[in-house]
Amino acid sequence: MTTPIIKMQQLNKVFSTDDMLTHALLDIDIEIQQGEYISISGPSGCGKSTLLSIMGLLDSPTTGRYFFEGVDVTKLSLEQAAAIRNKKIGFIFQQFNLIDELSVYANIALPLRYAKHPASDKKIKENVDYCLDLVGMTAKAGHRPTQLSGGQQQCIAIARALVAEPSILLVDEPTGNLDSKSSDQIIAILETLNNQGTTLCVVTHDKRYAEMAKRKVYLLDGQILGQTRLEHQGMF
Ligand SMILES: Nc1ncnc2c1ncn2[C@@H]1O[C@H](COP(=O)(O)OP(=O)(O)O)[C@@H](O)[C@H]1O
Ligand SMILES: [Mg+2]
Repeated sequence: MTTPIIKMQQLNKVFSTDDMLTHALLDIDIEIQQGEYISISGPSGCGKSTLLSIMGLLDSPTTGRYFFEGVDVTKLSLEQAAAIRNKKIGFIFQQFNLIDELSVYANIALPLRYAKHPASDKKIKENVDYCLDLVGMTAKAGHRPTQLSGGQQQCIAIARALVAEPSILLVDEPTGNLDSKSSDQIIAILETLNNQGTTLCVVTHDKRYAEMAKRKVYLLDGQILGQTRLEHQGMF
């Protein structure tokens, strides 16, 4: 078996605020292999976003081990963690976080322009055009985000997350701001991306979307309750 993209062992996260301790994650053991489509679901406050933030090197665990592509990332400096994050991880959030003053094209190009080693204009154009096509938004390249619907803006956010060719897409409640038709379209795009090889970890409290993933992880009160996997033979 190849090295997993993500491997967490006995991972815990405790937040301390004023005089209160919140045990947000409790002894999490999880592996994500290349090419997987995994959903993490559970009720509000169960630790989904905390888990995704730690996976995405936006936060660190209180205790436990975390290996990203085989590298122990709990020992890295903030700068080293940021370098891995920018190069290897694509994020999609409920808020689209697009810059209204920039064109769609320029928004998608941002991760490549501001990389530690910025890509050439030719490479940027190749990747942006490719990602625009993947999400069916080629015709919108010159638009401003404010001229697009919510669903279209989320498509642009997906293209931006993909443009630097990350190892994994971490997705937190991608449909939280969308009507049901746009939500279905976004989930369909994510599914297509996975079928083309993109590794996906999608956090959602929406059971219907969680069920569409090939592997499902359920969280409750910071603990993994159970997992199911959809194989060619069916569910087991
Ligand atoms: N920065 C923080 N400081 C203190 N408590 C936090 C912080 N972030 C999350 N929590 C707490 O950790 C628990 C899990 O939160 P979160 O991961 O956001 O849940 P979910 O995404 O499943 O709704 C909650 O009890 C929440 O209040
Ligand atoms: Mg959340």
